[in-house]
Parts: sequence; C-alpha cells; structure tokens
Amino acid sequence: MRILAIESSCDESAAAFLEVKRGRILRLESIVATQAIHAKFGGVVPEVAAREHSAAMPHVLDVIAEKVVGVADGRKLGRAVDVVAATQGPGLVTSLKVGLDTGRALAAAWGKKFVGVNHIAGHVAASWLPGAPLELGTVADRAVFPALALVVSGGHTELLLMPRQGEYRLLGATRDDAAGEAFDKTAKLLGLGYPGGPALAKAALAGDPSAFDFPRPMIHDKHDDFSFSGLKTAVRYFVEQNRERLVEPKFIADVSASTQRAITSTLVAKSVRAAEREKVRTVILAGGVAANAELRESLRDALAAKLPAVRFAVPAFAYCTDNAAMIAVAAYFQANRRRFTDWRTSDADGGWELGRG
Ligand code: KG4
Ligand code: ZN
Repeated sequence: MRILAIESSCDESAAAFLEVKRGRILRLESIVATQAIHAKFGGVVPEVAAREHSAAMPHVLDVIAEKVVGVADGRKLGRAVDVVAATQGPGLVTSLKVGLDTGRALAAAWGKKFVGVNHIAGHVAASWLPGAPLELGTVADRAVFPALALVVSGGHTELLLMPRQGEYRLLGATRDDAAGEAFDKTAKLLGLGYPGGPALAKAALAGDPSAFDFPRPMIHDKHDDFSFSGLKTAVRYFVEQNRERLVEPKFIADVSASTQRAITSTLVAKSVRAAEREKVRTVILAGGVAANAELRESLRDALAAKLPAVRFAVPAFAYCTDNAAMIAVAAYFQANRRRFTDWRTSDADGGWELGRG
C-alpha cells in the first residue's frame, strides 16, 4: 500500500509518502515546513497559520513528488499513490482545512481512496515508524496490546488505553493546560523564547531539578486526569518574587530544571500507575513533549524498575513533533481495516476527541 499523507493541524505544513508491503515499510519520505513567523508573536496565530499553510502546501507537495517520482509532477505522483490521507482533527480548524481539503481534492482528482486521520492517533502511530521499537503486522500486535499511550503535546495531555490497534479509550486528560503549554509558558516567563519546550529543556541542563519544590498537582489523586495550571501559576509567583535574580543564569537554569522535574515526575507517576492497573504490555510515549529527554529517560527508568515486563516505545526524535509520516502510518492502520473516509462529505473537526464515550 502506498500512502500520501498531509498534516496541517497547527503550525507545521507537512507531507509524507509511505509504502508498506506485507507488513514492512519499504519506503518513507517526509517533509516538514515549520512556520517560523509565529516566533515573532510568541505563539501560534490561527489566521496567520492558515494563510501560511496555503502558501506552503504546493511547495511541500512538490518536494514529496520530487522525492517519490523524481519530478514535481502531480499526475506522476498520483500514479504512485493508492491512498490519500490527511489530518482531520483535532487542531485549528482553519489550519486543518487547508491540508484536509488538499487531500480531498487530490483523492477526487486521482480517483483514490481517502482516509481522514485523528492527529493524536497519528502521534501514537509514530512509534511504528523507523527508529522506534514497534513493528507492523498482526503477529507483532499480539505482543504490543493492550497498550497505554501517554500523548503529551502543545494542546494535549492524554492517557489512552488501546485494547488493540486502532481502538482507544480515554482514561484521563488535562483539566486545564497541556504539558507542552506548561513548558511553553514557563519558558516565556523566563524569557527563553519560542517554542519554549526545547528552550526550557536546554536551560534545565545546567540546573538543579531539586533546587525549588514546585507543585505536582493531582499526582496522588486516584483518577488519571492531570492539571498543570497550578504549577504554571506557582512558578509565575515565584519568579515575580525573585525578579532581581532573573539576571543570574544559574537561577534560570534551576527554575527550568525544577519546573521540568515537576512536569515529568507527574506524567511518569500517573502513567506507571495506569499501566500497572490496566495490565498493559506496552507503554507508548507520544507527542511533541515526547522529544523531552528527561521525560523519555525517567519514564523508561520508572517502567524498568516497577514493571520490567512492560515494553516502552517512543518515536525517534524527528517523529515526536508534528509531521506527516505519523499520519501516513495511522492511515495505513485504518486503510488496512478498510476504514476509509468519504472525501465528498468529510470536514475538519477541531475538537475531535479520541476514545471518549
Ligand atoms: O505535537 P506537537 O509538535 O504539536 C502539537 O500537536 O501541539 O507538540 C508541540 C509541543 C510544544 O509545546 C513544544 O514546546 C513541546 O511540544 N516540545 C517540547 C520539546 N520539544 C517540543 N517540550 C519539552 N521538551 C522538548 N524537548
Ligand atoms: Zn501534535
């Protein structure tokens, strides 16, 4: 099966080509164009993002065509594709529409099947891409499921139970800010720039994670929900009270390391507990914040210590943040079960929640 996938849910315009034969990835081409313009505003401006997607999409498709068929020729690319896929939600509706409508139009023009993909399912599916430990195929699936997925990104913090491939039950989610938002907002407060996650992680390298004891909301609560707004507020008050110390690099490093530790320790504690209770075979870490080295390492270590029989899967760094390769592999899982989407009637769903109800 040869899939062309498009992703445009936030501020990355991305396309990918994936060829799978008898459960093996034969070919993967992927391009991600990140919209640099939002750094100026310190956050994603939806109207601007949608316009940027419109401008970038033809170029992104040309690059994929050149990689796949050697020339920027849409008709040739169409002959090399069996299924067209695009992210349908969740995300910014105006941004989603650009990629989704491009995919719908290509499926219509080429006479191909279409798959609308959930962005979160895409993040989870990234653990089946090269550089991650999971393998495609039903035999491999038996050793993977049931699985627990912790999806942590700029807009989401979710614990999902996957009884089998393509099935999701939402166990818990953030009640306020997402984990990525907690990283981004703290980084902004410390003047570390945008996007804040990687900047805060870098600053934290020189800091002491136990320097300041920031709150870990809901860490001991029985439910699987999260809350990060209290942490954000606590850090803000603390920084305001110590404003004169913002000139000290060591202070910035210590606040960064302590904030990072508060976020990651909460995520790890709740994930390990849910994994134990649900008796899963695998824990999958996914989403942009999965690129965070401390989170990857501390979750891996905690699982190895407490649940040594449980497998840990995390995508290669390049496939943690938004990309279309993850959408392509999620589309493969759907197409394999013949769960196609009608391109004539499909519409962007900004609030599409995976596994609820
Ligand atoms: O999945 P993603 O690319 O976009 C959304 O779907 O939201 O995630 C972006 C989020 C941002 O909040 C960004 O700051 C965070 O992932 N992020 C990180 C790191 N790399 C990206 N957070 C912490 N450490 C990182 N290394
Ligand atoms: Zn994402």
